[in-house]
Amino acid sequence: MKPVKVGLLGLGTVGGGTVSVLQRNAEEIQRRAGRGIEIAIAAARDLDKERPFDSSKIELTTDPQAVVSHPEVEVVIELIGGTDTARELVMQAIANDKHVVTANKALIAKHGNEIFAAAQKQGVMVAFEAAVAGGIPIIKAIREGLAGNRIEWLAGIINGTGNFILTEMRDKGRDFADVLAEAQKLGYAEADPTFDVEGIDAAHKLTILASIAFGIPLQFDACYTEGISHITPEDVEYAEELGYRIKHLGVSRRTDSGVELRVHPTLIPYRRLIANVDGVMNAVLVKGDAVGPTLYYGAGAGADPTASAVVADVVDVVRVLTADPENRVPHLAFQPDQLSDLPVLPMADIETAYYLRLEASDKPGVLADVTRILADLDISIEALLQKEPAEEAASVPVIILTHRIREGRMNDAISRIEALATIQGKVTRIRLEALDA
Ligand code: HSE
Repeated sequence: MKPVKVGLLGLGTVGGGTVSVLQRNAEEIQRRAGRGIEIAIAAARDLDKERPFDSSKIELTTDPQAVVSHPEVEVVIELIGGTDTARELVMQAIANDKHVVTANKALIAKHGNEIFAAAQKQGVMVAFEAAVAGGIPIIKAIREGLAGNRIEWLAGIINGTGNFILTEMRDKGRDFADVLAEAQKLGYAEADPTFDVEGIDAAHKLTILASIAFGIPLQFDACYTEGISHITPEDVEYAEELGYRIKHLGVSRRTDSGVELRVHPTLIPYRRLIANVDGVMNAVLVKGDAVGPTLYYGAGAGADPTASAVVADVVDVVRVLTADPENRVPHLAFQPDQLSDLPVLPMADIETAYYLRLEASDKPGVLADVTRILADLDISIEALLQKEPAEEAASVPVIILTHRIREGRMNDAISRIEALATIQGKVTRIRLEALDA
C-alpha cells in the first residue's frame, strides 16, 4: 500500500519533535499503522532556520494554505497554536476532506464543538491526544479504556510549566522569574506564559477532560481559573507542617446538580502519589465507578513527549482511514447526539475542604470569634495551627483546615472573618482535596 501523505502546519518545538519521531521510528510506526507515513509538506515561518532533522524530502513553504489544500495530503497536523488562524486552517482542512491531528488545547477547548460538528458532517476525524498532558495518553484512556465506567471525578496536574515552577521554588528556593525563563528555554511554556502561571492552559485541558469524562459539550468559559502567583513560601511551609503539598490542580467532579470545573492551587495529602509529581511531569487521577481510582503519569510538555501523542494520533487516523465514519470512536467519547445538558456549576455551588490563613491580633478571644463564625455557618474545623508571631509583629498567623463545605458558605465565612477588627488584611484561602477513593 502507498504511504499516507501528511501535511504539517508549524515546525516549532512540537513540529520539529513530530518530524524527528516520525523519521526515527518510521519502520516501527509503519508496522503498527499498516502503511508508511510520509510528511509531504510543512509550513513554517522561517524556511532558512537550521532544523535538527532531515528536511530534504519535505516540501517547505511559508504558505499554510498550500498544506491544507495539498491534493495528496490526507492528514493535516496542526501545530501552530493560537485560536484564530489555527481555527480557520483546521476548518479549511476539514472542508477539503482532510483528517486533522492537533496539539492545540486552546483551539479544542474554545472551538471544539464547532470543529467536531464540521468534521462529523464531512466524515473526517479530528484527533487531539497531544492537547492534554503532553505524552500521557489520557484522552485515549478515558475515551476508550474507561468506556465501561461512570466517571465520578478527575483531578490532574496538567500544566508542566506551573508544576516545574512550584517544584523548583519549593526544593531549591529558586526565584519565580528565573524558573519561568528556564521553562521557556526548554520549550515547555506557552507563547504567552501567563497562560501557564494563571491557569488558563490548565483550564483549556480540564475543559477537554471533563467533556470526554462526562459527555458534556466543551464549556471553557464556565471553568473557574485561579493561578499560582499568590502562593507564598509560608503557605507551602505551613501546608507541609500539616501533611500537605500545594499543587496547581484541575478538578472536575460530577454531582447530582451539575459538573464542577475548576483550576486552582490545592492542598493534597503528601502521601498521595499525585502530591509527589514534580518538575515538568503531569499526572491525572481518574475515578471510575467500576475501576476505582486510576493514575496516569508522564511528561506533560516538551518536543518528543508531545510528538509521541501527535504521532499516536496520526497512526490512529491511518488505521481507520477506510472505516465507515459511523463506526469510529466519537470525538468527545459519547455519540454526538448523546451529549448531556448537565450544567457546569457556579463556583459558589462546588464543595471542597479549605486551608485558611489569617493574620490575627495576639489577644484573648480572637480565635473564639473566628471559630464562632465558622460554627454559626456549620463549617467544621479539621485542624488549627497558630504560629509564633514574627519579631515585633502585632499579629500572628493562624492556619485553619476545614472539612468539606459549599464554597458559597465559605465565601460568607471569609467575609465575616475579614470584617472582624482583630483580623488584619485578607484571609488566604486555598482549596484542599483529599483525593481518596
Ligand atoms: N505550556 C504547556 C505546559 C505545554 O507547560 O504544560 C504543554 O501543553
